[in-house]
Amino acid sequence: MSQNEIVTLITGAERGMGLVEAKTLSEHGQHVFMGAYDMDLGQKSAKELQDQGLDVTLVACDITDRDQINATIKTIDDKYGYLNILINNAGISGPEGGLPSETDEKDLRRVFETNFFGTSAMTHAAVPLLKKAPFGKIITVTSDMGSLGLALDQSSMFSHIIAYPYQASKTALNAMTVAYSKEFKGTNITANSVNPGMTATDLVNKEEFEKNGAKTVESGAHRIIELALDPKNDANGTFTEDAGIVPW
Ligand SMILES: NC(=O)c1ccc[n+]([C@@H]2O[C@H](COP(=O)([O-])OP(=O)(O)OC[C@H]3O[C@@H](n4cnc5c(N)ncnc54)[C@H](OP(=O)(O)O)[C@@H]3O)[C@@H](O)[C@H]2O)c1
Repeated sequence: MSQNEIVTLITGAERGMGLVEAKTLSEHGQHVFMGAYDMDLGQKSAKELQDQGLDVTLVACDITDRDQINATIKTIDDKYGYLNILINNAGISGPEGGLPSETDEKDLRRVFETNFFGTSAMTHAAVPLLKKAPFGKIITVTSDMGSLGLALDQSSMFSHIIAYPYQASKTALNAMTVAYSKEFKGTNITANSVNPGMTATDLVNKEEFEKNGAKTVESGAHRIIELALDPKNDANGTFTEDAGIVPW
């Protein structure tokens, strides 16, 4: 089978930035598998894109469910036999508060189960198909909230923000990016983290974010899409946002 078509899987693609990524990348000719956690919303979102003539396939993909991850990979394997781009977009926010001394272990485990273990399991399962493609990209949506460099920089607003479970889960995901970038160094597979920046989505308190100048979903997704469309695929082991490099 020809491998000319670029095949992309986006997790958490039924709403927010994931939906913008699905729309834009399919508009650019990629075949997008839209991984959905909420299948009712997923069906509505996928139909909207299909009605516009866009080439998307909806897959049920709760990244905390290993059977759904495996079924997603099998669907892509059966249809194409390879995967070019995995966008690890799915994520959840943490509990209110976020001081480590007040964080319940259950909350810590819940946030890590999705943001870290789910994303890590999804990526692990996708590797065999990424290896079969002419080029592969693992694009992981983390956050400036997970940057230890910013948290320790007294001139940064992040030195004042404590949201322990969410921040720690995104820091761990950055470590995943670094590990894959080292493993695949010198191959045609790259691994990078992206920070969308403060974006008004359902993940956050939208109203408060909008009052504080949050980005639109289109603008938040911009750097993720830019990396996904980059034909060079020469960035590896980076953590970037629209403004440039984000400190790890
Ligand atoms: N918004 C921001 O300011 C901001 C800033 C930095 C980084 N980020 C990151 O950007 C990414 C996209 O978030 P967003 O802001 O666009 O929020 P969003 O609209 O809430 O999108 C997150 C998506 O992930 C899905 N999801 C949640 N748990 C899942 C699971 N177990 N399996 C598969 N999908 C799951 C959600 O599904 P349901 O809605 O059905 O639960 C939703 O579709 C996240 O990784 C987030 O951490 C966001």
